[in-house]
Amino acid sequence: MPTPSSSATAREARTLPFRSIVPRLVRDPIKALGDIGTEADGEIVRLNLGTFRPLLVTHPDHVQHVLRGNVANYARDGVFWRPLRRLFGGSVLSDGEIWEVSRATLQPLFAAKHVESLAGAMAETVADAVAALGETAGQERPVDAAAELARIVNKTVIRLFFGDRITPEESERLIPAHDAIATSIVSRLLLPLVPESVPLPGDRAFREAVRTFDSVMVPLVHGYTPSPGDGRDVFSLLCRTRDAQAGSLPPSWVRDNMVAMFAAGTETTVVALTWLWPILDRHPHVEARLREEIGRVVGGERVRPDHLPGLVYTRMVIQELLRLYPVGWMLPRVVVEPETLGGVRLRAGETVLISPFLTHRLPSVWDRPLEFDPERFAPGRGEHRHRYAYFPFGGGPHQCMGTHVFNMEAQFIVAAMLSAFRPALAAPVPPTPRAAASLRPRQSVIMTLRPAAHATAHGAS
Ligand code: HEM
Repeated sequence: MPTPSSSATAREARTLPFRSIVPRLVRDPIKALGDIGTEADGEIVRLNLGTFRPLLVTHPDHVQHVLRGNVANYARDGVFWRPLRRLFGGSVLSDGEIWEVSRATLQPLFAAKHVESLAGAMAETVADAVAALGETAGQERPVDAAAELARIVNKTVIRLFFGDRITPEESERLIPAHDAIATSIVSRLLLPLVPESVPLPGDRAFREAVRTFDSVMVPLVHGYTPSPGDGRDVFSLLCRTRDAQAGSLPPSWVRDNMVAMFAAGTETTVVALTWLWPILDRHPHVEARLREEIGRVVGGERVRPDHLPGLVYTRMVIQELLRLYPVGWMLPRVVVEPETLGGVRLRAGETVLISPFLTHRLPSVWDRPLEFDPERFAPGRGEHRHRYAYFPFGGGPHQCMGTHVFNMEAQFIVAAMLSAFRPALAAPVPPTPRAAASLRPRQSVIMTLRPAAHATAHGAS
């Protein structure tokens, strides 16, 4: 059987013509890509976007080859990553040596064992944040789900991973800045060949948001004095490595990694959980089962680590949410050396687009791919599934470092929210994604939070 990189019968990728795809992509980029992925159904195809002609790679075997099998030949670089460099240039979100030292420095903080040791503190922080939400969202005043989730996630991530070095006021300033970044970068991502000297919509909002990040991160980095102690937080780990490497890392390294970790750790979780409410609104039977489980396991108590093993259906719902709406929906790579993949010739310097969003919707890989069905993730199901049929957290050496954090935090948040409230959407929200750096709902999710039956027993202790 030929391997993904066998070159015996190399051919050119089928090219989808400019005139048929560009109008669709301009009208609705995510829908167009989704349709193109479904039509190609695993075949590698080339998108003719004029001077830019990336290859769409969606088959699980091919994804595995790019993210893991021959990862050294697929650099996390190129036109899509360039605009983001202004935000977190040389960090754990880059590639090469800087990525390697960043990852090695931060990895221990995110290992399963260490994250489990933080479960008690995480549950406490989530329970307090959800109780505080009850105070502000009383009287059924409509709230913006993303903004409220950002508050909860920020408190958790800041407390556990930044060791309170960023104050609550500062993190409140970073939330809208982060939001602005994810949406303002879209024109740069959609028009990757336009030089930075040519202004595009969103550029100014992006620059302002970067300034806001710098106004928090730069004084923090400058205020640091050597020997930061043995703190187990992102900032202390970065500073210790920089000291130990005696000047071999650029001065911006700590700042870039702080921004990268804040961005990777907050936005993703917030956006992922924002999708939950429109989905529950459309699937009352899922909501009823979720509510039954949470009522039985958590009831009127504050969430605790020992509730987690009982939250089986909650986990299934979150996994299915990340199948249909994987926040990190586009993982572009650049080919380093020419090679053959799936019988198709790849040239050095070409862009390869890997997308969990597309692979998770392939009709040849998933039964009823567009249907929201948590049963796919019932215990014991999916044992024969290809490792790269489902990869919301990527894979290989760049696999998401926050997987354990997310899995635990998301269960705590969903359980705490649904045991305290009966959220109801102010108006139905179509489950349609909007093109942004992360896969977010096109419309704001506005909801009211009526207290749940046992919510009275739920105040912060
Ligand atoms: C819903 C939640 C999340 C999703 C869907 C997600 C998804 C991803 C994906 C797809 C990648 C791979 C990027 C690539 O291959 O180019 C990634 C990388 C990363 N994620 Fe996450 N992530 C989530 C939450 C988090 C959290 C909570 C943290 C930290 C607290 C985090 C930290 C990181 C870091 C540091 C990387 C870069 C790893 C590397 O390149 O070595 N993520 N994430």
